[in-house]
Amino acid sequence: THCILIGAPVDQGQRRPGCLMGPAAYRVAGLPGTLMALGHTVEDIGDVLPGPAPDATCANPAVHHLPEMIAWTHALREAMAEALPRGLPVVMGGDHALALGSVAGAAIHAMREGRPLFVLWLDAHSDIHTVQTTTSGNLHGTPIAYALGLPGFDPFPPFPHPVPGQNICMFGIRSVDPAEHAAMLAIDITVNDMRVLDEQGIVAPLRAFLDRVAAAGGLLHVSLDVDFLDPSIAPAVGTTVPGGTTFREAHLVMELLHESGLVTSLDLVELNPFLDNRGRTAKLMVDLVGSLMGRKVFDRPTRSF
Ligand code: ARG
Ligand code: MN
Ligand code: MN
Ligand code: MN
Repeated sequence: THCILIGAPVDQGQRRPGCLMGPAAYRVAGLPGTLMALGHTVEDIGDVLPGPAPDATCANPAVHHLPEMIAWTHALREAMAEALPRGLPVVMGGDHALALGSVAGAAIHAMREGRPLFVLWLDAHSDIHTVQTTTSGNLHGTPIAYALGLPGFDPFPPFPHPVPGQNICMFGIRSVDPAEHAAMLAIDITVNDMRVLDEQGIVAPLRAFLDRVAAAGGLLHVSLDVDFLDPSIAPAVGTTVPGGTTFREAHLVMELLHESGLVTSLDLVELNPFLDNRGRTAKLMVDLVGSLMGRKVFDRPTRSF
């Protein structure tokens, strides 16, 4: 696979500075070498630079850095749409607001290919606020609502080709705000919260989703938020929530994704290297990408999907 690394030092979708160091941390933690050791080719396009921030305001006074995030959304959408025809983009974040642009770019590519886009959201949070409903004002809590094409994103460019709720699957959810809860009840979207994973395990719900992606001939964008993982193994994130995915569950998810052969793009988001302990979280994230891209302890003939 030709892997295209896209640096996205987005730090304005939340309030704790540090995510802008994420792309550098992934490079230092050995992401390019990890991919090359697995036989992939790697092209690092460097860090994306947003254009000038437009004049933009919205009715919700809590929202901050709206013009800057609109500029990032344009720039990352274009970078993603440009990279996808050539390989597998790996967006090195940056906070989760970068997914406003990365998913939009994936949607443009899917539309051009005439294939449906599916989104796998690996996160403690549902990130389904609109610009109008967010109470924190942190736009990293909004990319799912944007991808769905929900109203309430006025100053943003319209989402290019909205992703139907049935094509979105969340895993690891354990923090949902009231407005988000209402939004999820109103649409057909798969919410595999920790309650589901504790009862059913992570494998059956994931295979069910991947089978649907395969049956539809879909493209699959995976958005991996560091807080999907339990804070005990991944402390370098501003929004830790206890009770997250274990090391073993997370690697298993990545291995199943690899075996499916369905993943066409990937976001790595919310790493804040300033909060890390000697790059531990960055290294774990790089190892997870290794599993997603084919690293195995023992290479047995794989189950065919
Ligand atoms: N729901 C909270 C908010 O809207 C938390 C969002 C956390 N999102 C994230 N990408 N870490 O502020
Ligand atoms: Mn998130
Ligand atoms: Mn999160
Ligand atoms: Mn939220």
